[in-house]
Amino acid sequence: MDINQTESSLSDEWDDFDFNAEDESDDSIREKIQFHRLRLYPKQDEAIFYPRDINGNEARYSVIEAGTKTGKTVGCICWLFEVALNGPPGNYWWVAPVSRQAAIAFRRMKSFFGREVMTPLLTPVPTITLPGGQVIWFLSGEDPDNLYGEDVWAAVIDEASRLREEAWHAVRSTLTATRGPMRLIGNVKGRKNFFYNMARRAERGEPGYSYHKIVAADAVAAKVLAAEEIESAKRDLPEQVFKELYLAEASDDGGNPFGLQHIEKVLHPLSTAPPVAWGWDLAKKHDFTVGIGLDISGRVCRFHRWQLPWKETIKKIRAITMRIPAYVDSTGVGDPIVEHLQDDNPGHRIEEYLFTPQSKQKLMEGLAVAIQNEETSIIGPTIHGVKHVMQLEAESFEYVLTRTGVRYSAPEGFFDDCTCAHALAVAAKFNLPQALVISNSAIIASRRPGSRSARVFT
Ligand SMILES: Nc1ncnc2c1ncn2[C@@H]1O[C@H](COP(=O)(O)OP(=O)(O)O)[C@@H](O)[C@H]1O
Ligand SMILES: [Mg+2]
Repeated sequence: MDINQTESSLSDEWDDFDFNAEDESDDSIREKIQFHRLRLYPKQDEAIFYPRDINGNEARYSVIEAGTKTGKTVGCICWLFEVALNGPPGNYWWVAPVSRQAAIAFRRMKSFFGREVMTPLLTPVPTITLPGGQVIWFLSGEDPDNLYGEDVWAAVIDEASRLREEAWHAVRSTLTATRGPMRLIGNVKGRKNFFYNMARRAERGEPGYSYHKIVAADAVAAKVLAAEEIESAKRDLPEQVFKELYLAEASDDGGNPFGLQHIEKVLHPLSTAPPVAWGWDLAKKHDFTVGIGLDISGRVCRFHRWQLPWKETIKKIRAITMRIPAYVDSTGVGDPIVEHLQDDNPGHRIEEYLFTPQSKQKLMEGLAVAIQNEETSIIGPTIHGVKHVMQLEAESFEYVLTRTGVRYSAPEGFFDDCTCAHALAVAAKFNLPQALVISNSAIIASRRPGSRSARVFT
């Protein structure tokens, strides 16, 4: 059978390929599949299709740290498709951190090569089946347990710097029996992830590994990316963000807006002083209601985290907060929870903090400043090697690049309710009018004869 791919809008940049599915010497069973493949630029080709290790041998693992929009994903879509087409029947894996990203790759592969050479199926897990019985699966690393067990002939890990480490172990185990090749691609994102470590191993010249770095300028030279786009990104983005996303240079903080070294400096056990400000982040569908109280010096002195029905949540928040100034985020909760917190609650100081992308950004910048100036604390340090959830969330918090700019949030699949509650508490402490607190020692001092403050207090 002759299979031609339907015309593609990019057809001038696509090469024709003939693929012989069966032994060429036997014409009777020879099947020819013809398709167009995106013409990759030399750096893409070297990194993805023909990686070599330190000894000049074909590398089984290629680790590619690359700028955003340099063509990592499309290059690997072409590669996995061709490896599968040439390979034995069985499993081939595309693994992304979350299923939405895996589904994007599925749709892209589907649109690249046309129905004639494949049978795509979206559910239960997106797969593309090729004529020779090869099945390309598009999986997510959200539940690493689902990634064990199969024998896999080749794999791509997309957005590898964002994949959970457990998922990486699982994928690797599936390639053991087959000794299948793998491509790991991603933006750099700090130095605290397996992808960064793999890249350093490959860079050090471990046999079987190949290391590649593709930066924005390479994609511009190949006319895949517009130079103006990079210029405007450089203007609009914080320097460290630009460096990671476009120049593939790791920052120490992994895109953490607080700074990991600053987080380290503010780790303290819970203070025993009374709270002067509260921040409450109410649970949405899957996450937690978190309340954080700060003492007069800004240190965290109270911490609550629960999942309970609304009635109980409201009762508890009222009882805990009392008349201390508090900001509450109720975005996305749907119910007028803040009104319930305020109604029939004489003397309360509970204010709703309205979340918009801009106000959340401002709130988080306020928290970043407080952390960097050591005007607040994060619960720590580690107990028996286990970090407090507040520290974990602060460390995993990151900036993400959107069409409209940088946005701060938890990585997909992670929570940020502690971080939000903390930011709200900091805002409450600085913005809401504080009750005048006069310490006992000040009062005693003021009563001492001749005390200067005596004039103030008497
Ligand atoms: N060799 C190429 N020829 C033509 N277009 C390309 C090439 N490589 C990448 N592109 C285009 O560049 C854009 C970004 O590619 P993508 O693979 O999504 O980048 P990344 O995964 O690195 O962010 C896509 O629109 C893609 O079609
Ligand atoms: Mg991509």
